[in-house]
Amino acid sequence: MKAWMHGYSGRMGQEITKAIRATNHWTLVGGSSARGLMFEEQEGLSWDQFSNAVTNADLVIDFSSVAGNLELQKVIRSDSHYSKALLIGSTGLDQKQIDEWQKLAIDKKVAILLAPNTSLGILLLHQVSKLLGEVLAPQGFDIEILESHHRAKLDAPSGTAKFLAQGIAGVLDKTIKVNRDGKRESHEIGVTALRGGTVFGEHEIQYLGDEEEIKISHRALSRGLFAKGAVLLGEWIVKQKPGFYRLEDITIEEMIKLIQERKV
Ligand SMILES: NC(=O)c1ccc[n+]([C@@H]2O[C@H](COP(=O)([O-])OP(=O)(O)OC[C@H]3O[C@@H](n4cnc5c(N)ncnc54)[C@H](OP(=O)(O)O)[C@@H]3O)[C@@H](O)[C@H]2O)c1
Repeated sequence: MKAWMHGYSGRMGQEITKAIRATNHWTLVGGSSARGLMFEEQEGLSWDQFSNAVTNADLVIDFSSVAGNLELQKVIRSDSHYSKALLIGSTGLDQKQIDEWQKLAIDKKVAILLAPNTSLGILLLHQVSKLLGEVLAPQGFDIEILESHHRAKLDAPSGTAKFLAQGIAGVLDKTIKVNRDGKRESHEIGVTALRGGTVFGEHEIQYLGDEEEIKISHRALSRGLFAKGAVLLGEWIVKQKPGFYRLEDITIEEMIKLIQERKV
């Protein structure tokens, strides 16, 4: 399998490059960043060469930024021959940008997975948190999500906190309230973001009842975790038919299989 890394010079891009090189069934054909292209280890190529270079890849992995993701959208939109799979790990995209990817998936016949968190542990947390919500919310438990990330993170709340909140809100009749500044309403699922230091990422879901509290949390201990998850999810998306997918489209059975059979 051949991959192209968009955002290859970034913190995540470097980790994913390492994870790809550590497998024996993937190769990195090239990458792109704000400073240009790297193709088969040669740096400094111009963006004009993107279309030719990227057609050698089965999968494009994007861990860049909102602006970097827009650049990628532009080149894929303008390239009539682009027809590969794409894993989007960049976070902070607005609805307009996501809608455009949905259109591109159809127009260009690309299998696109929007993955604001590529940790398999978070995917499991997502499933478990919905189950707990379904049982506890009708019993009067309030649900709140707290997330912490390093001081350099550009978006808040994290894409993962939104993903978790949307999962729970989707199975309950609740609305998501971000960084509340007034009284709590009973129909809300609150999401609060903390920023500072070098925290890779922590997410805690709290189920707060009158007599007991349940808290489930996930703590990322290294960026390598997201990188290895990105490779596994990349393997999942290349096997899908063209279309736009979200993490929630991966069934619990597929997820367990990915975890049990992981080779990275
Ligand atoms: N899905 C997940 O599990 C997960 C986990 C961690 C992070 N993330 C997300 O992944 C993204 C990257 O994070 P990071 O920590 O690696 O960031 P980073 O270290 O700042 O790296 C950003 C990368 O994107 C490139 N880039 C930025 N703007 C660009 C543009 N306009 N055109 C082309 N390339 C551009 C940068 O290129 P230059 O070096 O040339 O500037 C660099 O290669 C962020 O959105 C972050 O929130 C997702």
